Amino acid sequence: MPAIVLIGAQWGDEGKGKATDLLGGQVQWVVRYQGGNNAGHTVVLPDGQDYALKLIPSGILTPGVRNVIGNGVVVDPGALIDELGGLQERGVDTSGLLLSADAHLIMPYHTAIDRVSERYLGKAKIGTTGRGIGPAYQDKIARVGVRAADLLDAKILRQKVEAALEYKNQVLVKVYNRRALDLDEVLDTVQAAGRRIEHLIADTRLLLNQALDAGETVLLEGSQGTLLDVDHGTYPFVTSSNPTAGGAAVGAGIGPMRIDRVIGILKAYTTRVGSGPFPTELHDAMGEHLRKVGGEVGVNTRRPRRCGWFDAVIGRYATRVNGITDYFLTKLDVLSGLEKVPVCVAYEVDGRRCDEMPMTQTDVHHAVPVYEEFPGWWEDISRCQTFDELPANARSYVLRLEEMIGAKVSAIGVGPGRDQTIERP
Ligand code: GDP
Ligand code: IMO
Ligand code: MG
Repeated sequence: MPAIVLIGAQWGDEGKGKATDLLGGQVQWVVRYQGGNNAGHTVVLPDGQDYALKLIPSGILTPGVRNVIGNGVVVDPGALIDELGGLQERGVDTSGLLLSADAHLIMPYHTAIDRVSERYLGKAKIGTTGRGIGPAYQDKIARVGVRAADLLDAKILRQKVEAALEYKNQVLVKVYNRRALDLDEVLDTVQAAGRRIEHLIADTRLLLNQALDAGETVLLEGSQGTLLDVDHGTYPFVTSSNPTAGGAAVGAGIGPMRIDRVIGILKAYTTRVGSGPFPTELHDAMGEHLRKVGGEVGVNTRRPRRCGWFDAVIGRYATRVNGITDYFLTKLDVLSGLEKVPVCVAYEVDGRRCDEMPMTQTDVHHAVPVYEEFPGWWEDISRCQTFDELPANARSYVLRLEEMIGAKVSAIGVGPGRDQTIERP
């Protein structure tokens, strides 16, 4: 049995949480393979209760599923404890959760540096979530990171934190003019949190490979999205990890040949949080309309999301970069009631037409969308159960998107609820 990857095809918030939850009943394991508590994945259960998951895989809401925070994730121990506590208070069984011994930890100095470095950038800021994600990944790559397994050895933990803090304090004080952090205070905080999560630590790559050998299905739940990928996204306005499909094998510790399906989650329009280029962004009343009808506010930071029309250049790019086998198209219901629905089919860059993502970021910044307009539909589609029940214009919209992005749409979201999904086998 295979591993399945589920990834965001745009700039995040495409509805990955709902999609993971939908597949929960068909898989034995759900794994987060990158990112951290910068993510916010919403799941609405059939009883109407909604959950905003940050670090913990969305599979936690399906009884019997085992959930893994993989080696590719960066974990803020305090945030993990808070999230676990919140779920337990609501009666969710969290006993199936495991944390990779190799996952890097977000330390108090990472969050501090994330915030001050953004302020330092001024107008050039990335608009990060301020959760310490970038600085934690920097330390991982610089080989001075602290990992979950280090929580199991107080002596090693002290050595590593002491070495890291010596340098971080210089940066905080001399570059950013901030207060130095106290070693013992940092250690106390991290160790206190560590005692509460150390029972979760496991050799998750061994367990996942054994599960696959035993014929179980593993769902690899991405966070963020293709255009926030540090390699393939709109650099430098990206996150510091690889949400794209290739990152799933690395961040979980399984071989790429284990993966036989890559599901792209794609919103029927486009949103983005934070800074950076966004060719189809609407700065007018229509953008406000999409934000309002789509409820486009960040789950994590409560920032209003920037909104714009569907961008088929991005869709084609996501299909190619991730090797998408099929798409879940979400939030089609939000487009109901529009006279016309424009779709960006190509860009014009300094007088040239570009059908594919431009090679340079300068060109992405200069990209002006070339729109094709589709006739809209007025009907409320939120109760449609089959593709044929959708209004003809909504069906044509989906079929044309499929053609433009080069992959099949196997499911369509018509509302946030689990049952508001049209499957197209
Ligand atoms: P994620 O980060 O990709 O998991 O997405 P978010 O949870 O940040 O944002 C997606 C939002 O859209 C959430 O509020 C979901 O409840 C909601 N949602 C997901 N699918 C649909 C859909 O098909 N229609 C509507 N109206 N809302 C949806
Ligand atoms: P989910 O998983 C949307 C954005 C931030 C910022 C950039 C870098 O819910 O789709 P970071 O804190 O990661 O260093 O910020 O990435 N960003 C997201 N945008 N959805 C997310 O997660 C995001 N996680 C990070 O807004 O622009
Ligand atoms: Mg989100």
